[in-house]
Amino acid sequence: MGATDVHWPRADYSRVPYEVFLDPSYHALEQERIFRGSTWLYLGLEAELPRPGDYKATVAGDTPVVVARADDGSLHAFVNRCAHRGTLLVRAQFGNTKDFTCVYHHWCYDQRGNLIGVPFLRGLKGKGGMPRDFKMDEHGLRTLVVESFAGVIFATFDPSVEPLESYLDAPMCDYLKRMFRKPITILGYSRQRIPANWKLYYENGQDAYHAGLLHQMSATFGLFRSTEVGGIAIDKHARHKVIHSIHGSDDAKESKREYNKVGYMEGSLRLNDPSVFDYRDEIGDRRATNLMRLFPNSIFQQLSNSLATRQVRPRSHKEFEIFWTYFGYADDDADLQLRRLKQANIVGAAGFSSMEDSEACRLVQVGIRGSERAQSVVEMGGLGPIVEQNTTVTEVLVRGFWRYYCNIMGIPVSGAQLQTEAAAE
Ligand code: FES
Ligand SMILES: [Fe+2]
Repeated sequence: MGATDVHWPRADYSRVPYEVFLDPSYHALEQERIFRGSTWLYLGLEAELPRPGDYKATVAGDTPVVVARADDGSLHAFVNRCAHRGTLLVRAQFGNTKDFTCVYHHWCYDQRGNLIGVPFLRGLKGKGGMPRDFKMDEHGLRTLVVESFAGVIFATFDPSVEPLESYLDAPMCDYLKRMFRKPITILGYSRQRIPANWKLYYENGQDAYHAGLLHQMSATFGLFRSTEVGGIAIDKHARHKVIHSIHGSDDAKESKREYNKVGYMEGSLRLNDPSVFDYRDEIGDRRATNLMRLFPNSIFQQLSNSLATRQVRPRSHKEFEIFWTYFGYADDDADLQLRRLKQANIVGAAGFSSMEDSEACRLVQVGIRGSERAQSVVEMGGLGPIVEQNTTVTEVLVRGFWRYYCNIMGIPVSGAQLQTEAAAE
């Protein structure tokens, strides 16, 4: 078994073989074909690197990388691995520098990753030194192509990948423009390791169905209910997704009736401090939930008034990390600042909502042990074409995720030919 000979039993992706979460051989292949392949990866926000010389150490998949702003203001990204013998070059998370010097033998690189200094290049007292034909310009750091959209920094290892705006596609570009419509300020960071396969987190995000059920606190106290009016937009490959819901747009009686069937919202629970969810409409469209998930490594969220990005960092087939960047707008008034900080508790490692998602992922990883040959059932929303549906009670986009995953990984479906998107629809 393994990625190249997995049995993917249905061409509509409504059965997901559990070995994709359990078999360690997938991790290396995913790094090669997805994270170092033809995708754009989210690395950070320009607001994190405002000044010339600023840098941030991050990852692209499991590859350590650095994104840096050069003295002329341009952005650069390179693998955080010394070209000499492989030492992690930059050890701080953030900093400001003219150049980067490796701790091991002090090879030195400029802000673009070019090698600019090698101690004892010509040896010492006529002895040692590098060969005469050693060329510094052949030993720079491995660079990535970097682009920024609406102040959000993306990078790719593949110079032939489609342009960033085309990769993101129109609904996602619109979402980024909406979220980053004015200057932001970074409020803080958190990170969490989750003992589960990263793809379970992607399934979770593609699945709006769970949101009104698993997240009982959100439903009970009005952050998000499946009965609310909302919308879902996807890109041309159904690999990215935006979901929003309109605050208080459901009928109180109907939502009570539907939710009483699943055993909560009975009305006896009250928050001591309602401001942890209380939504202040900032631009007049009542969208209290706005979530965007980009393939393969990022989520951009507005939940009530909390704003954050999440970078997904796969570590192995059974562990990934989420790196959260919380932010607000530079012109926030004191009330909004306080709300954003307080409502940051909705997400993060112990967040009211997020801990339920990470626990759900962990429970799947535990529950499927020993069941490599069994499969999950993904039929909510029907087995029809993978298109936007005007409801959150659907798993159709989970199938969309797997279709794109199989295509980019080169995994044949039904043991036959590669499933094309046209054929699937
Ligand atoms: S490994 Fe970096 S200078 Fe030797
Ligand atoms: Fe969730």
